[in-house]
Amino acid sequence: MTDMIVKNMSLKVGHTVTLSGVPKAGAECFALNISSGADHALHMNVRFNAHGDERVVVCNSYQAGVWGAEVRQGGFPFNYDELFKLTISLNPEEFLVVLSDASEIHFPNRLGASKYMDFSFNGGVLVRGFE
Ligand code: GAL
Repeated sequence: MTDMIVKNMSLKVGHTVTLSGVPKAGAECFALNISSGADHALHMNVRFNAHGDERVVVCNSYQAGVWGAEVRQGGFPFNYDELFKLTISLNPEEFLVVLSDASEIHFPNRLGASKYMDFSFNGGVLVRGFE
């Protein structure tokens, strides 16, 4: 289920977006999707306690109805009711996510586009800023 769709935003090769938000108390997880139509170039799932995982960030792509191989990297600098900030940059080969503990997630740009315009959030997060 998608709770929030972002309009008038794009991420192009060479550019960075910054997300700040607050995880809702008791949330099992929340996700950010950077997509091209129904396909997700980057699904970033922050799991407090979901799908058998505890306090881990799971990234994946979703193409033609199929999830790809998961990437589990970076720390877990997320706490309920506490503001976090992260950045996502795109280069031709990969997304680079830098979390607020300075840990990094490198996720391959499997869809291969140089610009993405579809962004959505779901689950337990209050988005404070996305620019
Ligand atoms: C699934 C989950 C999806 C997505 C995917 C990532 O288990 O249902 O929402 O997070 O993992 O690989």
